[in-house]
Amino acid sequence: MSVMRTQVAIIGAGPAGLLLGQLLHRAGIDAVILEQRTPEYVLGRIRAGVLEQGTVDVMELAGVSSRLHAESLTHGGVEIAANDVRRRIAFQDLIGRTVTVYGQTEMTRDLMDARQASGATTIYEAADVALHDIDHDHPRVTWRKDGVTHSLDCDFIAGCDGFHGISRASVPERALTLFDRHYPFGWLGILVEKPPVSEELIYAHHERGFALCSMRSLTRSRYYVQVPEGEKVDNWSDARFWDELRARINPEAAARLQTGPSIEKSIAPLRSFVAEPLRFGSLFLAGDAAHIVPPTGAKGLNLAISDVAMLGAALAEFYGERSKAGLDAYSKKALARIWKAERFSWWMTSLLHTFPETGAFGRRIQRADFDYLCGSIAAQTSLAENYTGLSLD
Ligand code: APR
Ligand code: PHB
Repeated sequence: MSVMRTQVAIIGAGPAGLLLGQLLHRAGIDAVILEQRTPEYVLGRIRAGVLEQGTVDVMELAGVSSRLHAESLTHGGVEIAANDVRRRIAFQDLIGRTVTVYGQTEMTRDLMDARQASGATTIYEAADVALHDIDHDHPRVTWRKDGVTHSLDCDFIAGCDGFHGISRASVPERALTLFDRHYPFGWLGILVEKPPVSEELIYAHHERGFALCSMRSLTRSRYYVQVPEGEKVDNWSDARFWDELRARINPEAAARLQTGPSIEKSIAPLRSFVAEPLRFGSLFLAGDAAHIVPPTGAKGLNLAISDVAMLGAALAEFYGERSKAGLDAYSKKALARIWKAERFSWWMTSLLHTFPETGAFGRRIQRADFDYLCGSIAAQTSLAENYTGLSLD
């Protein structure tokens, strides 16, 4: 068995783990990242694409924002549509804020490049990662690679290994409270090498179900349609997808839609989930390991980044000033933001999807909610504050 030592062991090389590694590196703290997959697999996952200003600020702080600034798009609003009514939520005019459109894949690539340039250790294809002595001051992580068992001694473990990871599962059941909401549908997403249908994102409610028109750049578009739970990608030819999308968005947008062969097509289930607290002994949970939001509010990636910004600052305070105050406050502080983002994501989801169990009363309430949004500057401001992240901090 080979034995290594580091200050912080980071489990998972998604955006949360990689960014934490970068923040720690810049603070002079030694960290090893353990990832069960290959870098190519991690980069092959197509995920979110809307960044709050606070997320961009953290990327700047971490020294990984040059390509983001060069290639991203700045949006001053989004369009919300329901049946035949369209309303632009002009957050730049309402509250002076914008969001940045830049794919999670690109962000992950920038973080991987920075990690490689820093010379810090990342171990990909680490199998059977296991956490030991997390209730002690000196925990340990073990894994297997190329037939050899490895052990890593450390001061802290950061569980950044996503919803299905080992970190949260290593905490004794009695020490965690789980909050879970299931939605009886998923999002079928398609990526296509064509210009987006509109300059800004369109979130559309239709009686056939929700649809979203998004983008990765001025030449690459990302579209989604709500599908029933359990639906299979194989049932969706590109032609069927485009027909369904056209039926759900307004006729002018449908007429402008440029279709083409999909370069990625997948279905993501929707759920709301929070595990509390985010700390057990020397293990700290961050990102999807600790919480899931339905993608409707574009909060998942932003929450993962705000978690590790807080955790990175708390670890820097510990090593720099020997103060445990930041680490002791991490769970409560991060959860306050997480729950506000959970509320907003649940609300956006409720406003825009069709719910199979909802009867006529529920449909009328949904319509009233949309009418209220269209007619009220206060409601639009609230959406703008949440969507851009202003009111989450
Ligand atoms: N051992 C090592 N690595 C693991 C293990 C394990 N047992 N289990 C999972 N991982 C790795 C996964 O392979 C993945 O690369 O942990 C990483 C977790 O990355 P993400 O799932 O991207 O989670 P996170 O970094 O928290 O980013 C959250 O992803 O789902 C979106 O909306 C979400 O955009 C947000 C972002
Ligand atoms: C995306 O572009 O993938 C995207 C954008 C906004 C969302 C969810 C996903 O709310």
